Amino acid sequence: MAVDGRRFFKRERPNFALQYLRISLTAGKEGTWVFKKIYKILEIPFIYRLAMLILVPGANRLLKPVYNKFFNLQLGKVLDVGCGPSSGTTLPPQGWIVGVDINESYVRSFTGGFLDQDPQLVLNPPADRRYLGYLSSADRLPFPDASFDEARSRSFFHHMSDPEAAAVIREMSRCIRPGGRIITFDVVWPRRAWTRPFAWLICRFDRGAYVRSESQTLKLFQETCPGHWTWERHTYSYTGLEYLWLQYEKK
Ligand SMILES: C[S@@+](CC[C@H](N)C(=O)[O-])C[C@H]1O[C@@H](n2cnc3c(N)ncnc32)[C@H](O)[C@@H]1O
Repeated sequence: MAVDGRRFFKRERPNFALQYLRISLTAGKEGTWVFKKIYKILEIPFIYRLAMLILVPGANRLLKPVYNKFFNLQLGKVLDVGCGPSSGTTLPPQGWIVGVDINESYVRSFTGGFLDQDPQLVLNPPADRRYLGYLSSADRLPFPDASFDEARSRSFFHHMSDPEAAAVIREMSRCIRPGGRIITFDVVWPRRAWTRPFAWLICRFDRGAYVRSESQTLKLFQETCPGHWTWERHTYSYTGLEYLWLQYEKK
């Protein structure tokens, strides 16, 4: 039987772009080839920084007053969990900042080329370096107890399931001294999608599969590490993205 050419082209020729869009929007980002490729490319430090500039415009300006409020710049030793490639993402203290990440090129970019091996080095860090960096998963930190004055993380916990996140919070708490602080800030879902549509879309397609609401985030931290937590919610980008800032002091 002869094939009707017009019918074939109209109805049966697959439109790959539309198919991917439809699959992505309905079936979820994790399963699609397009998103896997995009997430892989983001592992290159330069591309990650570029993506941040495009998707999170205004972050430096909007975060400056919040940084000044939360970070104590006098502190000596700070642990940055899931540090990523940029040393300037959180304000460094006078002293040392120790980054931990599972991506080696991010760690090297964070430290300016170094990849440290000996975890005991954080007890007596070298005077000629301010940035140290370790390749490690944050739920099994290699450092001795009470090694740091502060443990912080930015945009990290939405990469962790609840059990993984709880393990990281316990590790952060173990690694700070009594009187030390945990400061963490992470993206949260907009309260209503239609009032912040760009933010909602960015959360929907983020590499991290565990973006939480404000109440889910609070529950996770308070239940894992009971004690006195304070928190604030701030918009950190002109796209409407919001961070929930949490602070905890260890007794
Ligand atoms: C969204 S990025 C944030 C990076 C950086 N904190 C910033 O604000 O630009 C999340 C980071 O967490 C790291 N990461 C993901 N899972 C991790 C794990 N189990 N342990 C340590 N780092 C992890 C990723 O490699 C990535 O650098």
